[in-house]
Amino acid sequence: MTTTTTLARAALALAVLLTLGAGAARVEGDATRGKSIYARYAGCHAIARNRVGPRHAGLFGRAAGSLEDYAYSGAMKDWGLVWDAATLDRFLADPRGVVPGTKMGFAGIKDAAERADLIAYLAEATAP
Ligand code: HEM
Repeated sequence: MTTTTTLARAALALAVLLTLGAGAARVEGDATRGKSIYARYAGCHAIARNRVGPRHAGLFGRAAGSLEDYAYSGAMKDWGLVWDAATLDRFLADPRGVVPGTKMGFAGIKDAAERADLIAYLAEATAP
């Protein structure tokens, strides 16, 4: 085997290892933990009905501020994004920084793993 072939094989093996490693390092939320985090805010939100905040049923794929029977802030209605794992993660990290003028009076969740757990729960619990 030539030195070039050996080097090429080593580079390929390294690329495969890095790819596998990146996959293993991806944060997967724990929906059970997420459920108990969500329960802390039961005074503000429920899945099935509007409380202080809008209901979360059908959240994924819904445009922000789009329920007809909930009185959103203008800021939320004008935000123009659709809820998915990425937009929820951004918003929940810093609600008032990400949607200035929102009436969601909540400082957010700074811990990325807690947000991942919560989003994993919401993905399950809000599915139609
Ligand atoms: C884990 C905690 C929370 C999550 C996952 C969450 C999630 C959300 C989401 C996704 C929206 C936008 C929904 C839509 O566009 O239909 C929203 C809005 C809202 N939430 Fe929360 N929220 C949380 C905590 C809270 C808390 C603690 C309060 C009360 C103090 C609250 C009050 C509100 C209000 C009033 C809105 C309407 C915002 C506006 O129109 O500007 N939320 N929430």
